[in-house]
Amino acid sequence: MDDGIEREVGALSHQEARAELARLAERLAQASAAYHRDDAPEIDDAAYDRLKQRNAAIEARFPDLKRGDSPSDQVGFAPAAGFAKVRHAQRMMSLDNAFDPGGVADFVRSVRSYLNLEEEAGLPFTAEPKIDGLSLSLRYEGGILVQAATRGDGVVGENVTANARTIDDIPERLSGAPEVLEVRGEVYMSHPDFAALNARAAAEGSKIFANPRNAAAGSLRQLDPSITARRPLRFFAYAWGEISAPLADTQSGSVARLSDLGFATNPLTVRCADLEAMLDHYARIEAERATLGYDIDGVVYKVDDLSRQRRLGFRATTPRWAIAHKFPAELAWTLLERIEIQVGRTGALSPVARLTPVTVGGVVVSNATLHNEDYIAGRDSRGAPIRGGRDIRAGDRVQVYRAGDVIPKIADVDLSGRPDDAVPFDFPTTCPECGSDAPREEGDSVRRCSGGLICPAQAVERLKHVVSRAAFDIDGLGAKLVEELYRDGWIREPADIFTLKERFGPGRPQQLKNREGWGETSAAKLFEAIDARRRIPLERLIFALGIRHVGEINARLLARHYGTWAAFEAAMRAAEPQAGEAWDDLLAIDGVGRVMARSLVTAFAQEAERASMERLVAHLDVQEAERPRMQGSPVAGKIVVFTGTLEKMTRAEAKARAESLGAKVSGSVSARTDLLVAGPGAGSKAKKAVELGVETIDEDDWLRLIGDA
Ligand code: IVH
Repeated sequence: MDDGIEREVGALSHQEARAELARLAERLAQASAAYHRDDAPEIDDAAYDRLKQRNAAIEARFPDLKRGDSPSDQVGFAPAAGFAKVRHAQRMMSLDNAFDPGGVADFVRSVRSYLNLEEEAGLPFTAEPKIDGLSLSLRYEGGILVQAATRGDGVVGENVTANARTIDDIPERLSGAPEVLEVRGEVYMSHPDFAALNARAAAEGSKIFANPRNAAAGSLRQLDPSITARRPLRFFAYAWGEISAPLADTQSGSVARLSDLGFATNPLTVRCADLEAMLDHYARIEAERATLGYDIDGVVYKVDDLSRQRRLGFRATTPRWAIAHKFPAELAWTLLERIEIQVGRTGALSPVARLTPVTVGGVVVSNATLHNEDYIAGRDSRGAPIRGGRDIRAGDRVQVYRAGDVIPKIADVDLSGRPDDAVPFDFPTTCPECGSDAPREEGDSVRRCSGGLICPAQAVERLKHVVSRAAFDIDGLGAKLVEELYRDGWIREPADIFTLKERFGPGRPQQLKNREGWGETSAAKLFEAIDARRRIPLERLIFALGIRHVGEINARLLARHYGTWAAFEAAMRAAEPQAGEAWDDLLAIDGVGRVMARSLVTAFAQEAERASMERLVAHLDVQEAERPRMQGSPVAGKIVVFTGTLEKMTRAEAKARAESLGAKVSGSVSARTDLLVAGPGAGSKAKKAVELGVETIDEDDWLRLIGDA
């Protein structure tokens, strides 16, 4: 076998097959250990796959010979495959944040208003620590753990079932659980376990983790579950996804059920009658934080009544019924060595503080954002003083803070040690990269380079964005290579990526394979990777364009709304006057506001920009976006307008519910409107609907129609 002479599986005798399966098990285990444990692959991926396939073929022919340690059962062992992807039955949400009691009070007020609660009506919440780990979804069917998946992007995560099975806090079997139950919670590592793991790693000369969360993530995402098994991971259950029967009718009752079923739940989870009790519990958790023995980064409040949670529902990625009240950020003082200006993809001139490295909450920080020129000068966007009006200069001692994963910021400056020769920072009014004017538009807090595509910094940043993971995600074409190819003039704009092979491929005078560090195989591989991305989903393409305010979520909304590139492009051009039907249609998309709409139409109105997009699209096969299909929803795809007074729900609730059923809610009646839901006091909209022959129903009819009556 290893000598390359393989006999047909059909020609093997029983005895030969047994011997070969034993050899294969040993060989594959050895290869896997070399790859995962020692980071020193012995054979390449293709050879590994061939051995695995041969093993599977022999097992298929001789099922009785399948070994207890068969390589086929080693989940996640295939080095090339990594983890299999898992689509979550229900999206894994994140949480909105509040940073002070005022933010929590606003949240409680917004929930009350959404639910239209009378002033004296009670509104209990649960309050519990926000564990600083990584979330995991555990699927039980018939009480048996069948799948464990990481959060991933919330929609698709990684299948880490074999690894999750090694965690003591995660039961394999449940008794008395609903037929289908997805338990969600946080995987974390305790402080003593983290310290011991790092001490062991230091002694062995292997990798030291920066903090317990990284250690937990690194341990759970091991391709070899036997490594995870040696890592002391723990799990707190605090939520659920798909479920065939409710656990209870409250959040607190459901968490208690999870505990009865055998899950570890956090002992600091309590039910609070009102805002005061919530903030008291926050204070208690904050006071106990240092002695808990694991990292937490705030307190999570959730509406206790599950029927209210259902009414409140979700925004794009966060529930309306929960919020995380974050602890204040961690702080440290250090020296600001100099201030540099970076030019971003959209031309923004961003000041960056280069710092003498300092540890802030366990992470070494050497750069921090300074936001914009007002911030450096000690004033806010309206000109009012911040930090008592103290400006920030090179040579100052500054206080750095980190909150969550965000870029470190500067909180304060200490003037007592300011050198005598320190001078105020002179914020450039021209682009440091291309020399173009960098004006500050009315209402904009930043200066922007006006060089557009001629500015090399903007061009490179755009190209980096184009190849980034959420955009074209081209294997082997990362930020560094883009910079080099731009510098050498091989790629100046996105379309050039797709003509690289034509210009620098086989038979051309100058070839990629002749660049330093390149060869025939690597060049062919890159061309292949580029070709593989010519076919691209519309939402990725829209995101890749790098238009200001159009992030991944907005790109998806636009793609789903317009369906095809042609329709999207035509609509953006038609919406340019910022009035009329195309403009109204754009604004009617839930999640699209005026700022983003303006940014979109401006981008498409610029001749050079549009020409560059067209050159790119000419090389692509853009896939149509799937319109949201809400099976069985009678209002899916319909344009609905609400008017007059609604008595059984608030306007916000009606809109959110309609959208969750696939309808589009618009603020005005037009010939495109499918349905007008009119409450008492409906005025001009009802009249217009009659004129246009738009179907009009009342609130009760609406509730019956959508099955909520
Ligand atoms: S509830 C639908 N409760 O925080 C609500 N999340 O910033 C789902 N987290 O992705 C989340 N402790 O990984 C909830 N007690 C807790 C939590 C918690 C930590 C994490 C979770 C989530 C992230 C959002």
